[in-house]
Amino acid sequence: TPYARITGTGGYLPTRVLSNHDLERMVDTTDEWITERTGIKKRHIAEPDESTCDLAEAAARRALEMAGRRPDEVDLIIVATTTPDRIFPSTACLLQARLGANTGAPAFDIQAVCTGFVYALGVADKFIRTGSARCALVIGAETFSRILDWTDRTTCVLFGDGAGAVVLEADYEAGILSTHLHADGRYESLLNVPYGISEGQDRLIAGEGKVRMRGSEVFKIAVNTLGRIVDESLTANGLDKSDIDWLVPHQANIRIINATARKLSMPMDRVVVTVDQHGNTSAASVPLAFDVAVRDGRIRRDELVLMEAFGGGFTWGSAVLRF
Ligand code: ACO
Repeated sequence: TPYARITGTGGYLPTRVLSNHDLERMVDTTDEWITERTGIKKRHIAEPDESTCDLAEAAARRALEMAGRRPDEVDLIIVATTTPDRIFPSTACLLQARLGANTGAPAFDIQAVCTGFVYALGVADKFIRTGSARCALVIGAETFSRILDWTDRTTCVLFGDGAGAVVLEADYEAGILSTHLHADGRYESLLNVPYGISEGQDRLIAGEGKVRMRGSEVFKIAVNTLGRIVDESLTANGLDKSDIDWLVPHQANIRIINATARKLSMPMDRVVVTVDQHGNTSAASVPLAFDVAVRDGRIRRDELVLMEAFGGGFTWGSAVLRF
């Protein structure tokens, strides 16, 4: 059976930048606090008329261009997002029409918050391995700024908007070696938007549908869980820590990234870090970081990459791949 191999990557960030100093004028915080506790210096914020699908389209077009594929060659679209344009249709369906991709091919969204891209990659990998798709577009895209409470300093400083995309194609030599997806719904209350369409719609309409997080509790569980997932990814492939060329972690907090790198005995110059520039872009963070390191020449063909993520649900997961 074929592997699913990444043949193109793309990223897109909205033009508008919000620095820590800008945030000092909005809530009771400081650049020092944000930098020290999170590693974040700035994040990008979408314009009011700029939607998740707009960001996804820009990232997707760049990934297709790198892969040398036309939209009409795409036979599967998966968009990982927590902030879809609409209740329905899915952002993936909106994007299929926008791109002029193969009509009739499946297109759907996946919701696993910050783990969304890794989930989407795991699902697309199975489509390609089983011959159900040959050329898949897998995207993480968010306008997370829309679900932030801009008066809550404990959350609004952490997140940003953006999109990252990859093209996955069947390849007989190498590609994704394994993906590992997990969830534990018992932790729902530590990180959520407490209202939605079918529960608390009145509160949603009243403007209360915003992210809530018990940050320090999430932090501890994230560090422990990501340590375990590193072991799981290596063991599943009979790999040693030293075999991994690049760690591409979810970009939530530099302290969580440092802890995972230590667990892998990985020097920080082998870890892709964008949290300082992008903040936490949820489902977009892993593919955006991957795209940055591919385009600046750090990650090269045939190198072994470990992607990992942890987020609301709780959900967590990893992917081991030969680029
Ligand atoms: N500026 C200044 N002070 C602040 C700010 C701020 N922006 N935010 C919180 N504080 C204060 C708190 O009120 C608290 O004050 P107190 O001691 O007087 O009560 C103090 O700083 C310490 O707060 P903690 O929450 O204990 O700080 P911590 O070191 O844990 O850092 C953070 C907070 C950055 C949120 C960290 O816990 C974290 O990164 N958590 C994990 C986030 C994450 O990975 N989420 C998962 C992915 S996100 C997703 O899936 C959507």
